[in-house]
Amino acid sequence: MIIGIPKEIMHEERRVAAAPEAVEKYIKDGFDVLIEKNAGLGANFKNESYEKVGAKIIDDPKEIFEKSDIILKVKEPQFNEKLGLHEVDMMHEGQYLLTFIHPAAPANHEMVKNLAKKGVISFTLEGIPRISRAQNMDALTSMSTCAGYKGILMAANLLTKFMPQIFTAVGMIKPANCLVIGTGVGGLQAIATAKRLGCKVTAADIRPDASEQAGSLGAKTIDLGVDKELAIGEGGYAKKLPDEVLEKEREVLQEHVKEADVIFLSALVPGKMAPILITEDMVKEMKEGSVIVDISIDQGGNCEITPPGEIEEKYGVSLVGIKNIPGELPTSSTWMFSQNLYNFVSYLFKDNKPAFDLKDEVVNKSITTMDGKIVHQGAKEAMGL
Ligand code: NAI
Repeated sequence: MIIGIPKEIMHEERRVAAAPEAVEKYIKDGFDVLIEKNAGLGANFKNESYEKVGAKIIDDPKEIFEKSDIILKVKEPQFNEKLGLHEVDMMHEGQYLLTFIHPAAPANHEMVKNLAKKGVISFTLEGIPRISRAQNMDALTSMSTCAGYKGILMAANLLTKFMPQIFTAVGMIKPANCLVIGTGVGGLQAIATAKRLGCKVTAADIRPDASEQAGSLGAKTIDLGVDKELAIGEGGYAKKLPDEVLEKEREVLQEHVKEADVIFLSALVPGKMAPILITEDMVKEMKEGSVIVDISIDQGGNCEITPPGEIEEKYGVSLVGIKNIPGELPTSSTWMFSQNLYNFVSYLFKDNKPAFDLKDEVVNKSITTMDGKIVHQGAKEAMGL
């Protein structure tokens, strides 16, 4: 089978789906690998490094999409401005696509419908369940680790004041208040980073285990008052909360939001739209010069007015809706992503053929389109199918 790796085309995306180390392993396993010219440059991997391990460098992305059996990407298919063509339009029936698709997000519904129409068999990486046997394929965990760290550094740059407590000859500067909502993988890494930078950190999550972990990293935790039965579902993941409970949660958070200098948002229910935890009215009440980093933006965002893919200032607050924060840490994030993806490819394809079982939860939680249909549960719900 031929594996094709196009250059990522999202604005300022520096990652690539495979580092030379992974390409070497694909080739040893019997795959042929085509990679677009300069695809790895953003992550400091030169064309020669790919050639050296046996990949073929291709100039034209159309050729990669045309010739490959399996397409590996980092971000969901996008419109290629240079070619005036959507990446989905370059794909063909029976082709496999492995990437983050975020199929439940409204911005991606049309694209996912087109993937199904085209007959592409697509797998979305964020669907891989967090179970021990799938840990080494879990790219979302790797990317959330990067986003937690880099997201706080971005906040530090945008914040109009110091993060740590500083003693000066003219008086003491208080540490910045950092509020982290959603303390899963991304949120915990954000807490650890904000603590290292000297912030006073407060954290909230609806799962008691997640709150406890936040506490053990030194954050003060907020009791959101959500019943355990309502909060925790299958596999220990968070559940989607009823509207009236979310309303109460926003009320509890309101006071903390007003006090915060930095808010890091990473509350997510897997496969679903992100819950809205900060409304436009809540942003209006925030301190001027404060920052919100909303890493749930791929699923619509936890703040009502986060600009998708942008950084904007509204009501004196900097709102960060960058979708590819790990792309700002390209060497580490590409290396982690590429290792995870290699493990996933090796899991799905054996001896150069597809070898997956649709009853396996690693497969049926990540498969998104197949046989001309959308099969991803969260996407179907979000589209009302
Ligand atoms: P996770 O599943 O480990 O954590 C999410 C946490 O949110 C869980 O602990 C859950 O209990 C909590 N949660 C769910 N509903 C909540 C509510 N109503 N209130 C408070 N907490 C709630 O997820 P992870 O891996 O940390 O990812 C978080 C988000 O970051 C996802 O949306 C993911 O797609 C996104 N992400 C974005 C990146 C970017 O560049 N923008 C990069 C990597 C991840």
